[in-house]
Amino acid sequence: MKSLVENLLVINHPVLQHNLTVLRNKNTSSELFRNAARRIAQILLINATDNIPLETVNIETPLVQSKANIIDTKAEVIIAPILRAGLAFSGVASDILPTARVHHVGLYRDETTLKPVSYYNNLPDELNNPDRTFVYLLDPMLATGGSAVAAIKLFTDLNIPQGNIRFICLISAPEGIKKLQSVFSEVKIITACVDEKLNNIGYILPGLGDAGDRTFNTVY
Ligand code: PRP
Ligand code: URA
Repeated sequence: MKSLVENLLVINHPVLQHNLTVLRNKNTSSELFRNAARRIAQILLINATDNIPLETVNIETPLVQSKANIIDTKAEVIIAPILRAGLAFSGVASDILPTARVHHVGLYRDETTLKPVSYYNNLPDELNNPDRTFVYLLDPMLATGGSAVAAIKLFTDLNIPQGNIRFICLISAPEGIKKLQSVFSEVKIITACVDEKLNNIGYILPGLGDAGDRTFNTVY
């Protein structure tokens, strides 16, 4: 089941719900956390990539000549995991889109100010064909929205239309959705659920804790 409200697509699938519960449970090990995140990522990515353009080619099946569709060879597809936690989705995204470019975006959230701090990206200074470039940003958590906005800006600065950019996350907070949509109203958010709110230190409630730490077993 899907619900779409103004560029917010919430995918409500039983497999996804089950695996979200695995992620939320504080007793889930990092290994099982990563497995559950990958299963959810598959469902989200299949839905998020429904805007990739196709082209028609002539092929021969074992029986006849036929016309068939392939992903448009003139389209540039970029997968952009936001470090660290977005890496949990990256392998799944490359499996689904094997010819995509993968551009890692290094951002962390300052614990006091909650503002994003940029530490890495390897994007080019300009793109040959921004109108034909399709970007899939991957980050499990949309909390205040600061990291999402900073990451999206890297791509709009390269003249990629907002409508070609999609933000894929496991859990989103109403505050983050509002912030992202107030800055980039045409960027579509694809998420597994919208939680209640942020707590006073910017964590999503009920949430799953720190996604990066839980993915990489760095909870102390
Ligand atoms: C987490 C998460 C997002 C960000 C969301 O990353 O993966 O990138 O916080 O918060 P925001 O919406 O308030 O910006 P974090 O800064 O913890 O870095 P990490 O993935 O390296 O742990
Ligand atoms: N980042 C996380 O990893 N978890 C939250 O709840 C908020 C931001």
